[in-house]
Amino acid sequence: MSYNNDDNRRQLLGRLSRRLAYTAPVLMLAVGGGAALQAAAEGSLSQAGKAAMADLSEESWLLASAHAEGGAEAEAEAEGEAEAEAEGEAEGEAEGDVSDVQRPEGYSPAYSEDGENAPELLARGEELYYDTSLSTNGLSCASCHGSDGNDMGYSATFEQPFPHEVAMARDQFGMDKVHADEMTQICMVAPMAAEPLEWGGEQLTSLAAYMVEVQRRFAGEPHGL
Ligand code: HEC
Repeated sequence: MSYNNDDNRRQLLGRLSRRLAYTAPVLMLAVGGGAALQAAAEGSLSQAGKAAMADLSEESWLLASAHAEGGAEAEAEAEGEAEAEAEGEAEGEAEGDVSDVQRPEGYSPAYSEDGENAPELLARGEELYYDTSLSTNGLSCASCHGSDGNDMGYSATFEQPFPHEVAMARDQFGMDKVHADEMTQICMVAPMAAEPLEWGGEQLTSLAAYMVEVQRRFAGEPHGL
C-alpha cells in the first residue's frame, strides 16, 4: 500500500480525522487512537505522509477535546479545503451535506415521535442499533451510545423530546432543530462515515422509532424498551 499519491493520503487523513474527532471524545479512546496514529506515522508512510500525519495527530487532540465541533474543521483540512472552509464559511458541510440529512420534500415519516410505535418496529430498530455493517468504520450506534440500556455519548439536549436543537446538527449542518430520523442520518454520514439511509425505508424508520424511546429513557420518562 502506498500513500504517496495525494488522493490516497487525503482519503486516509479524512478517515483518521473522522475517527479521532468523533470516536475519541465519546469512547475515551484518545490514548489508544494516538498510539495507533503514532504507529502509523512511524510505519509505512512516505515522508510527506508522515509530516501530514504528525500535524493531524497534534491537531486532532485539540479537535477531540473540542468535541464534535472539531469534526467539521478536521474534515475540511483533510479534504484540502481548509482555505475556504476553516474560515467557517461552509463549516456546516464537513461530511455529507444538509440535503443528505434533512427530511426531503414530500417525505412523511412512517414512525411517530409521540411514541405509539409498534413493538416490532422497536425490536428491529434495536437490532440495527447494534449492527456494525451500517457503518464503513466498524462502528455501530452502540459503540458510541452504549449497550443494554446504558445510554452514553449524548448531550443534555437529548433530554428534550424530538424535534430539538443538537450542537452537531447546528454546527455541521446548519440545522436549528432535528427530528429523530434526521439525527440518525447525521450520525450515519458523520461518525459512522456512511451513506444516509433511505428516507422512509425500514432501516431509517425503525432506527428513528427506537431512538424516540431511547430519548424517553434518557430523560427518565416512561418508555417502551
Ligand atoms: C463515533 C461515535 C458515534 C456513533 C457511532 C454514533 N453517534 Fe450518535 N452521536 C454522537 C455524538 C458525538 C453525539 C452528540 C451530538 C451533539 O449533541 O452535538 C451524538 C448524538 C446522537 C443523538 C442525540 C442527539 C440529541 O441530542 O438529540 C442521537 C439520537 C444519535 N446520536 C443517534 C445515533 C444513531 C442512531 C447512531 C447509529 C446509526 C449513532 N448515533 C452513531 C456520536 C456517535
